[in-house]
Amino acid sequence: MHFKFSISIFLFFSVSSVQVLGKMTKLSVIFSPLFTVNEYVFMVQARGIQIRENVRNIGVQVLEQVVRGTYSINGTDYSYDFNMSESDAPPTTYLPEGFTYLPSQVCPEKLPSMKGRLEVNMSEVSLEEVERSLLQKEPNVELGGYWKPKDCLPRWKVAILVPFRNRHEHLPILLRHLVPVLQKQRLQFAFYVIEQGGNEPFNRAMLFNVGYKEAMKDLDWDCLIFHDVDHLMENDRNYYGCTDMPRHFAVKLDKYSYMLPYNEFFGGVSGLTVKQLKKINGFPNAFWGWGGEDDDLWNRVQYANYTVSRPHGEQGRYKSIPHHHRGEVQFLGRYSLLRHSKERQKVDGLNNLNYSPLVSRRPLYTNITVNLSRKLAPIADY
Ligand SMILES: *[C@@H]1O[C@H](CO)[C@@H](O)[C@H](O)[C@H]1NC(C)=O
Ligand SMILES: *[C@@H]1O[C@H](CO)[C@@H](O)[C@H](O)[C@H]1NC(C)=O
Ligand SMILES: *[C@@H]1O[C@H](CO)[C@@H](O)[C@H](O)[C@H]1NC(C)=O
Ligand SMILES: *[C@@H]1O[C@H](CO)[C@@H](O)[C@H](O)[C@H]1NC(C)=O
Ligand SMILES: *[C@@H]1O[C@H](CO)[C@@H](O)[C@H](O)[C@H]1NC(C)=O
Ligand SMILES: *[C@@H]1O[C@H](CO)[C@@H](O)[C@H](O)[C@H]1NC(C)=O
Repeated sequence: MHFKFSISIFLFFSVSSVQVLGKMTKLSVIFSPLFTVNEYVFMVQARGIQIRENVRNIGVQVLEQVVRGTYSINGTDYSYDFNMSESDAPPTTYLPEGFTYLPSQVCPEKLPSMKGRLEVNMSEVSLEEVERSLLQKEPNVELGGYWKPKDCLPRWKVAILVPFRNRHEHLPILLRHLVPVLQKQRLQFAFYVIEQGGNEPFNRAMLFNVGYKEAMKDLDWDCLIFHDVDHLMENDRNYYGCTDMPRHFAVKLDKYSYMLPYNEFFGGVSGLTVKQLKKINGFPNAFWGWGGEDDDLWNRVQYANYTVSRPHGEQGRYKSIPHHHRGEVQFLGRYSLLRHSKERQKVDGLNNLNYSPLVSRRPLYTNITVNLSRKLAPIADY
């Protein structure tokens, strides 16, 4: 993947970052002269400042490209399509109100209960309260959060994998929001929260590999959704089944002003079938600290000759729960790792991973706690 960026895009961001990202006042100055950008990058790297909060916005996605040295400094040409996700979608037709299902038939994908725009409630709530109220509304949820529709045959058996550390107030918000949506979508599903113990930097990708392996011991899931705990969908027509290509669900995030930050962006929420995940050898284990693992996944998908599918238009909108990064460090080595995605793909992933989890069941999810360290996924130095 080669990106071309130019001065014009920085000017674009310098305007939008001032207008849209109120929190970003300190960063907004940065995008005017290019040399200041580099200076900022240097400063960040030199001091190892916690900039995740800042990095997670459109401006700094561009910074990421700068750090990778993949921009073009020479003029007005840039090949960046903000509308990439809205290619010619077929018109969507949803079933009429009062449509009756047959228990012997596969559930439709476009149900009348899926109305589109969703309210997002980010107010904090206890896990016990969410467990109580969801089970009261729908008692057929089994320990571990297993649920399947009774009025039709679920089209997909979906394991929702949520990597986790120190976000206890976010999990109930996600469950309160997402469980009813998945029920409306008539999917069979369960939640797996994979919590990283120990003191190593957060390894989101390795947690996904662990979650996948553990989930498959429970049931023959056919679709895996890789879901950040702080992402809340804004449209219930964003159907969490898989597709014949790996799918990127979180296309338009509020924190990126509802634009795809770059075409190769594959973060937040994504979904692969078991077959697709096996073909790409899962996620990389080599990314310690935040950043880069989603780009590596994008590369893996390309090398396996897949393309990425995305929901169209408004369906891919998400709000993210604001938070501070609790001392999680960013991974500065990601750019050099990304240069060798292809070679690493064969040797780092599902096939070089060992771990010893602690598994317990809560009413709405399975808790997989695992201490991670580098020696659990040995790999030659790439
Ligand atoms: C701009 O850079 C690209 C490579 O990124 C190069 O192909 C092109 O010739 C350059 N254009 C000018 C006007 O220098
Ligand atoms: C993106 O698409 C919308 C509608 O499809 C169009 O109105 C808008 O001008 C496009 N934006 C850009 C930057 O191409
Ligand atoms: C948001 O959730 C809280 C706690 O569950 C509830 O008390 C409140 O009524 C909800 N707000 C809306 C707008 O639904
Ligand atoms: C991808 O396609 C290329 C060209 O058709 C082929 O040579 C390669 O083996 C394919 N790779 C995989 C992983 O299927
Ligand atoms: C998961 O289980 C561990 C060990 O019992 C516990 O410390 C942790 O709080 C649990 N995490 C979640 C998200 O339930
Ligand atoms: C993780 O490591 C800590 C400290 O060494 C230990 O107490 C705990 O039991 C370990 N947890 C798991 C799930 O192995």
